[in-house]
Amino acid sequence: MSSDSNWTDVAALADVFEGAAIAVTPQGQDIALYNVEGAIYATQNVCSHGNANLCDGYLEGFEIECPFHQGRFDVRTGQATLLPCTEPVKIWPVKIEGGRVFLALD
Ligand code: FES
Repeated sequence: MSSDSNWTDVAALADVFEGAAIAVTPQGQDIALYNVEGAIYATQNVCSHGNANLCDGYLEGFEIECPFHQGRFDVRTGQATLLPCTEPVKIWPVKIEGGRVFLALD
């Protein structure tokens, strides 16, 4: 498989506002996109602690705060950074091309 074969166009870059998160559902996967100072990151949208959507949380720097119990994750690595979250969330590689956001899906 070529390294470029699994890049999937998921959003317009202009739709992911700086300091905000949006949800996208390419190929039925629930994924949150974040814009931190112009760079885009992607994690699974559902919190690893419960049934909350991280896209509805509060993005502060590189951390997304879950709207349910205020646990946090680093959007760059998916690692949990604040209790009650302990399990990481999945992340995907991101590239920007032609004003579009692409994810390397599995
Ligand atoms: S559901 Fe996200 S911190 Fe509890």
